[in-house]
Amino acid sequence: MRSFLGRDILSLKDFSRDDFLRVFEVADDLRPHATDRRNGDLLKDKTLLTAFYQPSTRTRLSTEAAMHRLGGHVLGFADAKMTRAGDFYQESIKDTFHMLEYYGDVIAMRHFEQGAPAEAARWASVPVINCGDGWGEHPTQVLTDLYTVQRELGTLDGLTYLLVGDMRMRTMHSLLYALSQFDAEAIVVSPPDMALLPEFKAELDELNVAYREAPSVADAIADADIIYMEPVVQADYTQSRVERGGETGRTPEAYRVTRQLLRDKAKRSSIILHSLPRMDELPADVDGTRHQRYWAEAFNGVPLRMALLALVLGAVE
Ligand code: CP
Repeated sequence: MRSFLGRDILSLKDFSRDDFLRVFEVADDLRPHATDRRNGDLLKDKTLLTAFYQPSTRTRLSTEAAMHRLGGHVLGFADAKMTRAGDFYQESIKDTFHMLEYYGDVIAMRHFEQGAPAEAARWASVPVINCGDGWGEHPTQVLTDLYTVQRELGTLDGLTYLLVGDMRMRTMHSLLYALSQFDAEAIVVSPPDMALLPEFKAELDELNVAYREAPSVADAIADADIIYMEPVVQADYTQSRVERGGETGRTPEAYRVTRQLLRDKAKRSSIILHSLPRMDELPADVDGTRHQRYWAEAFNGVPLRMALLALVLGAVE
């Protein structure tokens, strides 16, 4: 296992099986701070800087909550328009992050351009955590998701994941990279214009990820241990911000998970994860079913990000 001290968290392609398991072990150790709402002082001498160039509810606030729970300090921006990167000057990532490293000990960054956190990490000597980059990856979300699977199902091996939604989505990329480290199979269901790209499929083949494509949720749900969802009605993740203009359209039935479908076809033991926000692909009445785990998933974002912060800052090894 590579040391986490000072490490940038950019892609789950960089994670070994032992890396995953170590992060989950530390998350379990630190979890009481979140469950008991009891802030500690493990990171009292450290400062987190959040640099979010795209909207976020969960990722930014759970990362900031994680830092507060460990007694650390937090500063940053959630709207680049109020910085020099978002006004007349269009300040470069190089200049921005070369300077931000003077203000904090770790940087959590979201950006609309794929690869932007890797570029920032070239110019900042402190660890950079990728909190979502365009259509690229979303490592902290998928670490949260696998941590949830481990806690809810007791294992990360011998499982079948049904991936439903837009396969250009960054969570889907990080998840499929991550599955290369476990005995897992993926069944992928998406509209044709949102299918896995040929170059990404080539990468999955190279990494020996076992996956197959299916035409609809109804065709595949009976095999799934984990139903992993993203919207197909969604924003363009290459934009800094997308406003909703008029009608958004409806999700075709083939890509929805309904209460009836769960009752008729799903394994009773299967769980549903959704990184949220949702559209109509996952109706609110599914919240009351035995399969729903997305609220536990949202909560787990806090202990998981506590673990990452503690590890990259060297508070735990
Ligand atoms: N899951 C997730 O990335 O949510 P936010 O966009 O609200 O951070």
